[in-house]
Amino acid sequence: AGLLTFDPGYANTGSCQSGITFVDGEKGILRYRGIPIEQLAEKSSFIETAMLLIFGKLPTAEERTAFRTLLSEHELLHEGLLHHFDGFPPGGQPMAILSAVINSLGNYHPELLEIQNMDTFTKAVAKLVSKVRTIAAFSYRKSLGLPFMYPDPNLSYCRNFLHMMFSMPNRDFEPTPQAVSALSLFLVVHADHEQNCSCSTVRMVGSTQANLFASVSSGICALWGRLHGGANAAVIEMLEQILSGRHRVKSYLDMVKRKERRLMGFGHRVYKNFDPRARVLKKAAHELVMQSGGNDPLMDIARELEETALSDDYFKSRKLYPNVDFYSGIILRALGIPVNMFPVMFAIGRMPGWIAHWREENRDPTTRIHRPRQIYIGPPRRPYVPLDQR
Ligand code: CMC
Repeated sequence: AGLLTFDPGYANTGSCQSGITFVDGEKGILRYRGIPIEQLAEKSSFIETAMLLIFGKLPTAEERTAFRTLLSEHELLHEGLLHHFDGFPPGGQPMAILSAVINSLGNYHPELLEIQNMDTFTKAVAKLVSKVRTIAAFSYRKSLGLPFMYPDPNLSYCRNFLHMMFSMPNRDFEPTPQAVSALSLFLVVHADHEQNCSCSTVRMVGSTQANLFASVSSGICALWGRLHGGANAAVIEMLEQILSGRHRVKSYLDMVKRKERRLMGFGHRVYKNFDPRARVLKKAAHELVMQSGGNDPLMDIARELEETALSDDYFKSRKLYPNVDFYSGIILRALGIPVNMFPVMFAIGRMPGWIAHWREENRDPTTRIHRPRQIYIGPPRRPYVPLDQR
């Protein structure tokens, strides 16, 4: 034990070697496979970015079309899988439904439980990337008691999702092109973030040689918490409390400084100057709110909260800045997505990252089962006491 380094939260442990995503927290740099996030946010689509992360390079036009076709082929769920939705109570948590159904998905495709070659891998990728969106939308419909709206193979990835969420049997939902682009951008900036908690979970589970479906399902569970993917919903709750007059910006920040609560959507383990994703999303949130009527009172509160916090020594000295979750909820609200679906939206975006990391881990000959050590602080050796003597 003398040789062990105690590293709570693994803040100083490099758990793997990775060639997928580069983060420089001091300079606020994020790149997927070398390409800056700002360029991807401006020029790429979610599917292209997913291919970049998973297959290592930007696709050619033919590759992209072939992959889009594959996604359409795999967008439907096996009818047997639909029964899983009935096992959840009304108002069941969409994250629970998502992780359970994704895990079960592997059972419907036993030939994909062992990834043998590029062909089986590509099929598993197409199923996961395409079906995570269908399952997410169905979990929402189920939570409202609405009939499932099946995917339409003629629609783009993001439009198709909005169609499954919001169309009715007698009325097609027609999102604006701006709404579709904002959703794509949201998914692009969430697509990977190196060894965050859910990615590390996927890698850890994968290191036991558990299958891809089980591994990403565990990633969804890790993402669920308020300190990770649940933060986007927690931000909206916080902003709504301020809007309702229960707290004012200043009194809220005072509570944070007394450590009675955290400023949600602020702070990051790695970024210590700014989170480049927050910058991209702040601009996009502003544009989308302006386009859709120009008014979301939560946007004004978010701005005021950010400005006040950034000029306060408590936050300055701890290098706390808005993270990806601070403005993302404003975009999701403008798209009409309810707050209990926010972490699910994060999961749809993060799926390519999880898959890319699982694959990297799985193919790396130096991979060993993840098995951290501990510093034991329990009782020393003591004898067993028979029941009648306790
Ligand atoms: N509000 C108030 N104080 C904070 C916050 C915050 N959001 N974040 C960190 N601190 C303080 C913390 O109290 C500590 O202060 P002190 O030194 O006085 O004890 C100091 O800053 C360092 O904090 P830490 O908890 O050691 O930092 P960490 O690297 O372990 O935690 C974090 C990172 C993201 C979990 C944390 O900043 C946090 O809880 N943020 C709020 C939740 C959130 O927005 N999560 C989303 C993260 S980004 C995307 C994602 O992963 O989903």
